[in-house]
Amino acid sequence: MAAIWHPFTQMKTAKAPIEIVKGKGIYLTTHDGVDYLDGISSWWTNLHGHSHPYIAEKIAEQALNLEHVIFSGFTHPPALELTSRLLPLLPGKMGKIFYSDNGSTAVEIGLKIAIQYWHNQNSGKTKIITFKGGYHGDTFGTMSMAGKNVLNRPFWNHLFDVTAITPPIIGLEEKSIRELQAALTSDNIACFLFEPLIQGVSGMVIHCSKALNHLLKICKDHQVITIADEVMTGFGRTGTLFACERLEEKPDIICLSKGITGGFLPLGATACIEEIYQAFHSENKHKALLHGHSYTANPLACASACASLDLTQSLACEKQRTMIANAHTTFVKKWKHHPKLKRCESLGTILSLEYRDKNGTYFSTLSHSLYHFFIERHILLRPLGNVLYVLPPYCISKDELTLIYNTIALTLEGDL
Ligand SMILES: Cc1ncc(COP(=O)(O)O)c(C=O)c1O
Repeated sequence: MAAIWHPFTQMKTAKAPIEIVKGKGIYLTTHDGVDYLDGISSWWTNLHGHSHPYIAEKIAEQALNLEHVIFSGFTHPPALELTSRLLPLLPGKMGKIFYSDNGSTAVEIGLKIAIQYWHNQNSGKTKIITFKGGYHGDTFGTMSMAGKNVLNRPFWNHLFDVTAITPPIIGLEEKSIRELQAALTSDNIACFLFEPLIQGVSGMVIHCSKALNHLLKICKDHQVITIADEVMTGFGRTGTLFACERLEEKPDIICLSKGITGGFLPLGATACIEEIYQAFHSENKHKALLHGHSYTANPLACASACASLDLTQSLACEKQRTMIANAHTTFVKKWKHHPKLKRCESLGTILSLEYRDKNGTYFSTLSHSLYHFFIERHILLRPLGNVLYVLPPYCISKDELTLIYNTIALTLEGDL
């Protein structure tokens, strides 16, 4: 349909989008019955396979009861259930959850909570520290967090300043720590926002957990609020339920979205520790968090999230995540020294391969050729520039993983 403007797409040069009429498990099916194996969980959202009947039924049940209600002055059982189940699972001692409807808003709210926390106490702390190459969404606030880059070039004049430090990638740990210490010589730092253990959009780059832990400790020592963006890493992707579980130091705020509903419906959640919330709890209305979205805590989305949690916490799902992680590790051992690869690593259920490419940016032409190479073989993998990654729904089978690995091998051993 010529009237639809698709995301992250140059409409003039892109091929016509593939129309999907059915999703079942790991497969997406077209009108004429062609199946595509979804190797990236449809933009990292799907956890248990497409159209999972258990989640679909729970949403249908909820839809026949209550589809939506304003969440200011009202509440409902799915939000109450989700909150009481989610809080004890989150790393650290999270005390409250604020709901929204996507990853960008979950992060934007985390930032607003951190900044207003200091404002409510008449503190001058307003500045933000982030990692270079981070990605937190596409609103102006979250674009600012990424710093000025090729993706947000038209908006540079409208982005606000942040202090970006080198992420603690193996080999750069000391540099990262030094840069944080230098940034903290200024006493107006409100918060530090980070993607824990792995930076997604910048190319699935994995961090040293010990160094990341050290960074959080330094922030704590300087009374800087730490905000973990677990929008991609949440709900089992990195091997543990949340990436921050692997850190001794816990964040003060955690942002969630994507997999939270199992990939069925949009939902964002921003959790914070009780101490932060207390700075908003006042007789004074101006101290409230005056923020909200029409579909905040939508009952269908919350019911979907509760159903997805049932599946995520099952032994069967845990076993699947371990199977995927082990298969990725074996793949990495076999291929990591291949001359065509600059980097090949995995973290939990995420596998990433960086191809050597002199034009190694988001706009690398390799991205286009790799994408179509896989699509022609009915596999959906969507490289980030010269970085190919596999991030499948947890229901994938060993054989389906092997098919993906064998197809990747063709790109390494063949002419591509
Ligand atoms: C780490 C991280 N944060 C935030 C976002 C933004 O999420 P959304 O696309 O739902 O706005 C993304 C999206 O890829 C992400 O990877």
